[in-house]
Amino acid sequence: MADTDGLKVEKNYHLDREFAVSGDFHVKGASNLDWGMKKRLANIFNPKSGNTVMFAFDHGYFMGSVSGLERLDITIPRLVDHVDVLMTTRGAFRTSVAPPRKSIVLRVSSGSSMLDDDLSHEVLAVDIEDSIRMDADGIAVQVFIGADGQLSSIDTLSRAINAGMRYSIPVLGVVAVGKNMERTDQYFKLATRIIAELGAAIVKTYYCDKFEEVVAACPVPIVVAGGKKLPEREALEMAFRSIQGGARGLDMGRNIFQSLHPVEMAGAIGKIVHEKFTASQAWEYYRDTAKIKQ
Ligand code: 5RP
Repeated sequence: MADTDGLKVEKNYHLDREFAVSGDFHVKGASNLDWGMKKRLANIFNPKSGNTVMFAFDHGYFMGSVSGLERLDITIPRLVDHVDVLMTTRGAFRTSVAPPRKSIVLRVSSGSSMLDDDLSHEVLAVDIEDSIRMDADGIAVQVFIGADGQLSSIDTLSRAINAGMRYSIPVLGVVAVGKNMERTDQYFKLATRIIAELGAAIVKTYYCDKFEEVVAACPVPIVVAGGKKLPEREALEMAFRSIQGGARGLDMGRNIFQSLHPVEMAGAIGKIVHEKFTASQAWEYYRDTAKIKQ
């Protein structure tokens, strides 16, 4: 292990400087990847804005039928045209979503359910051949840094990255927040950096204080998780702050599908992500399109 004596104590994230090795490709840290990886990343991140609206509805993989997703076949089809990327399980896709003219990210890790006290033990549950068969632009693995299942989780992530490298499929590493995991910038800096250095091309994490520093220290794009349902105005505020802080998109679930107006909410998020809307402008857009009275 490295000797930690005599290390510089103050960290410097150089927040005033752009990420240096971006070359002419619009996705952070991906300039040196091969053609197929770049093509898939360009399907995920809009080349014009550089950003993405991912719609996560993979909750069933460990939570069963959460509110809002009781009927995938009813909820999902009407949202497909209002987001950039669909992220869910192969079972949800195959049973309930007609093959879309749209990017998909496939959840490939699993291993626990809401009935477990400890959710941190996951395995790689989907063969890379099935991700290729489904034409996935990315595969997603949950990563439990600091949890009981850290080792198996890093093993799962690494297996997915190794398989993805063979066939040019980028991996989205999803930072898990469990009971004993803090939602601090220190924790997110640790987890996002580990995931990126192990080879994930995209990291999903939560918004936090000093989020700009989390982004600066992570050499691949960060997309921000929605988390529990918030009032729409607050969710838009969080989305705005995330993009201001350097996130390259949102990967939101409950804050879209549990909204009273999911289509309009997805649209409002898109305005922030791609059209530089402020939170107030997006809120107005949401209210206008959902025809909500003042
Ligand atoms: C699990 C995930 C899910 O995709 C996630 O929960 C997304 O949805 P939400 O915005 O509802 O939290 O990554 O960790």
